[in-house]
Amino acid sequence: METATNLLFRLPQKETHRDGIPILPGALPLVGHTLFNIGDTLTFLRNAARKAGPLFWTRGIGDRLTLVCMGEPGFELLKNRVTSSEFIREQSPDFVGDSLLSRDGVPHRNLRSAMSGPFTPRGLTSSGAAAISAEVVEACVAGLPSQGAFSLLSHTQRLALDVIFRVMGIDRSELGAWNENYREFILGALPFKMDLPFSPARRARKGRIWLDSRFSKLITAARGRPDMPGTLSALLAARDEEGKALGDEDLIQNLRLLALAGHETSASVMAWLGIVLAQRPDLWEKLREESVAAPGLPRSPEDLKRHPFAEAIFREVLRLYPPVSLTARQANEDLELYGKRVPRGTMITIPIGTYGYDPALFPEPERFDPSRWLGRRSPPSAIDIATFGGGPHFCLGYHLAWMEVVQFATAFAREMARRGLRPQLAPGTAPPKLRYLPFGQPPKKTHIEMVRA
Ligand code: HEM
Repeated sequence: METATNLLFRLPQKETHRDGIPILPGALPLVGHTLFNIGDTLTFLRNAARKAGPLFWTRGIGDRLTLVCMGEPGFELLKNRVTSSEFIREQSPDFVGDSLLSRDGVPHRNLRSAMSGPFTPRGLTSSGAAAISAEVVEACVAGLPSQGAFSLLSHTQRLALDVIFRVMGIDRSELGAWNENYREFILGALPFKMDLPFSPARRARKGRIWLDSRFSKLITAARGRPDMPGTLSALLAARDEEGKALGDEDLIQNLRLLALAGHETSASVMAWLGIVLAQRPDLWEKLREESVAAPGLPRSPEDLKRHPFAEAIFREVLRLYPPVSLTARQANEDLELYGKRVPRGTMITIPIGTYGYDPALFPEPERFDPSRWLGRRSPPSAIDIATFGGGPHFCLGYHLAWMEVVQFATAFAREMARRGLRPQLAPGTAPPKLRYLPFGQPPKKTHIEMVRA
């Protein structure tokens, strides 16, 4: 029998299950699993699923519980039939706000149909976006140094931001100022929220005010010039299913979203691609052969068909180095997942970056093998490209990212072949590990260099 002292001094038992679903052990006081979940997120989630099964709770800051749903049932939630994305508006008012990403149902469909024109495979060519992207990619690659070690990410970040701003219709001469203010604006993603002079929060606010006022001027200018090239004029001309045009506030919020969504992700993929090629001369050689045999960079979906190897590398880089590790949805009603009842209102993490590591989908998943994408009869399945999300919020920029990265791979190989060079990791640089802070970018200190081929 237990004594009174025993009862008095027994440490409170941490809850091990909630709603019959296991709570992942190993949480730290105050911060829960947060420290493990940022950084090497994919390994953390896969190890957690091995221990706890495909459905488990993780603890966040202040012991807040979030459900993680692995596998296909998680992917199904992205269809937003029984879940919502609207919570993102409050969670990320500065970055996402009231934009495409935080709307559901009819308002989302209307906005998306108004915005999607320039980003469809055909729209990329007819809006001039593919040609603009090719021009920016060529200029970036021509500027890569032949000698000395450098961070490819620094170049691809500038490239991807230039592409998205130019695609919007921003003049080349203004790109420097746009880049500078955008970099200030994203300081707002840092966890230091104190509003003091020169603090990240203050600088982020100033950057955002600059961007918003310039977006506003750009919209006014574009309204007076229907012939202006770029996405913005296409967005102005667009009508939703009810025949309505986008208002100024919608345009600003969504142009800001495009800059964010369309840049860190693609920049990361291009940098990983260069880092992989720097370690695999065999792949470099195949890419070089394909690239120099082509008449130039692809600028249309038909052109892309001449670059199957560059495309296979793009897909393999995305599979193993997905820039976005996870996304989230909120349950709109009581759900049943893996035979357990999940109450309405639950926040659910969907680990989209882990699908590429599933041996049932990709045998020997850790092996970088572009040939797994070659010679397929059908296009990649929805789960094959889960790194771009799924359901109604599936990445609007998928075709642009695909075009941009294949252009980059091709231009990189063509330019370096012309110089008689190939990439390798700079001496003293270890092969980098994938870490999420919050995007899965390679560290800036990972340097490559060009050597005689
Ligand atoms: C490799 C590059 C990219 C990756 C991995 C990526 C990934 C994603 C993911 C995972 C989502 C869905 C988020 C969710 O459902 O919670 C998304 C949405 C989105 N992406 Fe991308 N993205 C990339 C490039 C781009 C580019 C170049 C653009 C520029 C047009 C873009 C614009 C968007 C937009 C506007 C959305 C919101 C769509 C909606 O809510 O309907 N992305 N992206």
